[in-house]
Amino acid sequence: MMILGIETSCDETAIAVLEIKNGKITVLSNTVSSQVKLHAKFGGVVPNLAAREHAKNIGLVFKLSLKKAGVKDFGKEIRLITVTRGPGLGPSLLVGLAFARTIAWKYNKPLIGVNHLEGHIYSNWLKPVGVNSTLRSFSKVGPVLNLIVSGGHTELVLMKGHGKYKIIGETLDDAVGEAFDKVARLLGLGYPGGPMISKIAERGDSTRFPLPRPMLNSKNFDFSYSGLKTAVLYLLRDLKESGEKINKQTKADIAASFQKAATDVLVFKTIKAVQEYKVKSLFLSGGVSANKELRKRLATEAKKIGIKYSQPEMEYTGDNAAMIAVAGYFKVKSKNEKVKTDWGSIKMDANLGF
Ligand code: KG4
Ligand code: ZN
Repeated sequence: MMILGIETSCDETAIAVLEIKNGKITVLSNTVSSQVKLHAKFGGVVPNLAAREHAKNIGLVFKLSLKKAGVKDFGKEIRLITVTRGPGLGPSLLVGLAFARTIAWKYNKPLIGVNHLEGHIYSNWLKPVGVNSTLRSFSKVGPVLNLIVSGGHTELVLMKGHGKYKIIGETLDDAVGEAFDKVARLLGLGYPGGPMISKIAERGDSTRFPLPRPMLNSKNFDFSYSGLKTAVLYLLRDLKESGEKINKQTKADIAASFQKAATDVLVFKTIKAVQEYKVKSLFLSGGVSANKELRKRLATEAKKIGIKYSQPEMEYTGDNAAMIAVAGYFKVKSKNEKVKTDWGSIKMDANLGF
């Protein structure tokens, strides 16, 4: 069967086609139209502008993704339509949802709404476009501890089965991706900040500036990132006041020191949670999972304590629709929750939780 995925929760208009055949899963196409350049001049995503761009581009992205996947007869070949219904920006989500409803109605196809964060978790089930793999059975890996890190979320989620989630820790203020974006802005690096910070951090000295590790030793598994961002703000102010020039090397050292502080807390608390909840598998996901330092350190720590570790292929770290399609497939297959397939009953929820 072929499944269509639609994702418009933030600033990427994404449509993907997934094929499930003889117990194998293949992403046939994974089209993402990014609006990053448009929002960069505002230093962040402007919701109404994002919605306007989604509306402008979604038809084209749809056609392109079907073409790349080799879909000739949508009505015959596509069996299920999946769409992100939250969390995210309301105006953006509505465009994807309206589009999904329209094609579900036109072709008389079942439509199901997917939680964006659940999608990120399932990005771990995907191989690069065109590469098929055996469908990963949950009983072989579960229960799984998920570290989901993105521009809007920092969550530790215990997954006991398809559709069975429990949040065991989350950020009390800024998300870690948001902290990367804000620090990049302070350093004049542009938006989105994560990729820029990690790039310049490669030639920086992570020990030059001592920055706080917020909540490292707290008893729970929650996080806090706004204090770390403020610490960078004060560090810059102090450097300027002392007459220090904020040159390229100093910026790289700040970026490296910040990245080290931010990832130290993530790695330490995640491994502690793995041990406390006695899980045998750890999955990383979300936009910040593209961070090389984080990937490397989690992989190393997981190996040390002998647990299974998975991180998404680079092409599925950022927002995409293939992850929505695979999450939707498992939602239908597992029947663990009441899946609404009637297009009229799928509702947008900008604050959707687990
Ligand atoms: O999942 P995502 O694409 O969108 C949301 O659902 O939020 O995550 C975007 C976030 C941004 O904050 C971006 O700066 C961050 O992921 N990000 C990174 C890297 N690449 C993207 N953060 C750190 N290092 C990276 N290499
Ligand atoms: Zn995301």
